[in-house]
Amino acid sequence: MNRPTLSASLLSADFMCLDAQLRELSEAGADTLHVDVMDGMFVPNISLGQVVVKSINEKTPLQMDVHLMIEAPERYLREYDFDNVKSLGVHPESTPHLDRALQIIKDMKKETCVALNPSTPLSAIEWELEKIDMVIIMTVNPGFGGQRFMPEMLPKIADLRKIIDGRGFETVIGVDGGVSSENIRIICDSGADYVVAGNYLFHSKNSIKEAVDELWNQL
Ligand code: DX5
Ligand code: ZN
Repeated sequence: MNRPTLSASLLSADFMCLDAQLRELSEAGADTLHVDVMDGMFVPNISLGQVVVKSINEKTPLQMDVHLMIEAPERYLREYDFDNVKSLGVHPESTPHLDRALQIIKDMKKETCVALNPSTPLSAIEWELEKIDMVIIMTVNPGFGGQRFMPEMLPKIADLRKIIDGRGFETVIGVDGGVSSENIRIICDSGADYVVAGNYLFHSKNSIKEAVDELWNQL
């Protein structure tokens, strides 16, 4: 099986030694950094914003996928126009203007990403799919790291794989929430090619490197 792209979720990092943690991550083989931006409105938690993304952009070579969990994200997209921001992700549940948000991301020459809450059907993106580079299936309710993976989302991943292949698109399927060595195999077997992991990488008993190796051992 092809190994998926691994994106490490910053939310679970130790912010007192972020520099060292980011270096450890790249040495361990994480491909990208997943940055969760939360506003305390769309989700019941507040995290970080463009100030931190700017510093990471200036001080590390890591590519970032920014996951905006904020109301009306189209207001803030342009604030994330940094070289190392590869993709910008928005939720259809957070705006009546998904198409406008995607157009802004395209104008910024970034990859477009749409994340779907567990209760949101795939039909929410039916008419936008060809404008989306990556769809993220949320396998937890967004807002916090370290939550339990929802296995009931596996058929949703498989259904999306069928739709994408059926329409002959190259859209990447990402999975975000509760990813670990216990479920990565079934996640990839269901059709995902991009996985986000936070708690599993940063709070494992062993080093980040060992945690990453353990993920790949399952495939
Ligand atoms: C949840 C976030 C996730 C989260 C993933 O709202 O979008 O990116 O940080 O972390 P784990 O792997 O701990 O579930
Ligand atoms: Zn996320």
